[in-house]
Amino acid sequence: MAKQYYVMKKIIILLFVSLLLIQCKIKPTPEIVKIGLIADSAMVVSARQEASAIGVAILIKGGNAFDAMIATDLALVVAYPFAGNIGGGGFTVYRTKDGKVGSFDYREKAPLAATRDMYLDENGDVIPNKSTLGALAIGVPGTVAGLFMIHKKFGTLPFSELIQPAIDLARRGVVVTKRQARGMNKYRKYFEEANKRTIFLDKEWNEGDTIKYLKLAETFERIRDNGRYEFYKGKTADILVNYVQNLGGIITLEDLEEYEAKERDPIVFNYKNARIISMSPPASGGICIAQILKSIEPFDIGQYKHNSIEYIQLITEAERRSYADRAYFLGDPDFNNIPIDSLSSSTYNNKRMQNFSWDNATKSSDVSHGNIEIIESDQTTHYSIIDQFGNAIAVTNTLNGAFGSKVFVEEGGFFLNNEMDDLSAKPGEPNMFGLIGAEANAIEPEKRMLSSMTPTIVEQNGKLKMVLGSPGGSTIITSVLQNILNVIEYDMGMQESVSQTRFHHQWMPDDIKFEPKFDTITFAELRSKGYKIDQSNSRILGKVDAILVLPDGRLEGGADPRGDDKAVGF
Ligand code: GLY
Repeated sequence: MAKQYYVMKKIIILLFVSLLLIQCKIKPTPEIVKIGLIADSAMVVSARQEASAIGVAILIKGGNAFDAMIATDLALVVAYPFAGNIGGGGFTVYRTKDGKVGSFDYREKAPLAATRDMYLDENGDVIPNKSTLGALAIGVPGTVAGLFMIHKKFGTLPFSELIQPAIDLARRGVVVTKRQARGMNKYRKYFEEANKRTIFLDKEWNEGDTIKYLKLAETFERIRDNGRYEFYKGKTADILVNYVQNLGGIITLEDLEEYEAKERDPIVFNYKNARIISMSPPASGGICIAQILKSIEPFDIGQYKHNSIEYIQLITEAERRSYADRAYFLGDPDFNNIPIDSLSSSTYNNKRMQNFSWDNATKSSDVSHGNIEIIESDQTTHYSIIDQFGNAIAVTNTLNGAFGSKVFVEEGGFFLNNEMDDLSAKPGEPNMFGLIGAEANAIEPEKRMLSSMTPTIVEQNGKLKMVLGSPGGSTIITSVLQNILNVIEYDMGMQESVSQTRFHHQWMPDDIKFEPKFDTITFAELRSKGYKIDQSNSRILGKVDAILVLPDGRLEGGADPRGDDKAVGF
């Protein structure tokens, strides 16, 4: 009887997921809900319904979170070419069902032929767009190496079964959402500038159009048949290098052959009764979150109303100090000695906060120097997975800008990143996120660029509590931070948390950015204390996809209403 019930339950779940996959073609934009999806056992929350459903289908097949991660990742390459990629890189933080934690780094690297001054003119000034648009902006991609490394360590289903749903999706086609149509039309002139031709130039896109990615399906089939070799040494490597070099790029077959993903020790620290596991350098997210939380810990922030003046002041001042340190100390750990323990210690951060005053803003120029403007771009993507066995995985991947360098390898069917802009084209000058880097992040061959990505897992009282992360360039760190506080300090549910309006400060420029809908305070009092306010019209800060473990063990998804994001679970 119990067995019959189990089989029936499995059939119903399969029908439900199939329905979701079919629905993806008919109704691309899911409704925004106030309370997140609640599931008994397992969940995937990602930027696209197709990808979440494909991840869950793998779990239902008996795969674990790592299997589901690979299938979800590859589905995002098809359904979310804005940021989902095989031509970029990313970071993954995990916690296994028995509490072991770890992380994978498959960040892009500078090509062997990269030089310190490659983006400067004869006067030593940064040449506009050279590190962001076109073939010279591309770093050596890491995603495929990362997926195979993860599969080798933790995968339980054959890779061929994990890539097949993405192949089928690419052949069947993806229905364009309103947001996607807007994005693809907006970047049209850059596609023209960066490429000889791309399928994205075929027409002006409308919501409801279907795009088929037949060349990408062929690339996936070759990867399915030839494994990791295909991308780094096989036909796909030849296609990539030829295309990029014809456009004036410097990536070679040797660059691809030499690329290796790495396992890294994650940043692990305590905040009150929570234990936080986040990404280590070359991602800055883990250290920055540790610094900010350690800075505010003695102030017991929970006593202040959520998003009140005091709350904003305290977080802003901690962020100011942390982002100043980020600019100076952080870079690729294979090229730099980074004082991780000191930077994330209570002693150091409490000392940094000694000159904080409730009466007046600290001037960023007193913390360090610079005077710059941020140009927003948030074309990274994050997804969170918890499986039915209790494994948890937080994954943030990126092409950097929207559609990366805008270089679309026509024959391979995929975009390439513009991650070289995350290295410091000129130490001391801001990149496209307004972030300043120092010598630690100066361009060197084979160096990994400093990232803001912050895939994070939170434990409370020794148990898995939350999996989260965000896109958003420099705003990733502050978006993740606010969601940790929403849950740990303000007891919010996951959907409630991700739906809250957010604010952001990053040391330089010396202002606080607020989302347009942020209305819990009037800004007069902050201004009177010397804070500059930026509430530009279309700004969104991050797009957090997260999962919360409820007290009864069930899971609540938080799919950010700022995008087409979707939680699917069972
Ligand atoms: N490219 C965005 C980041 O890595 O932070």
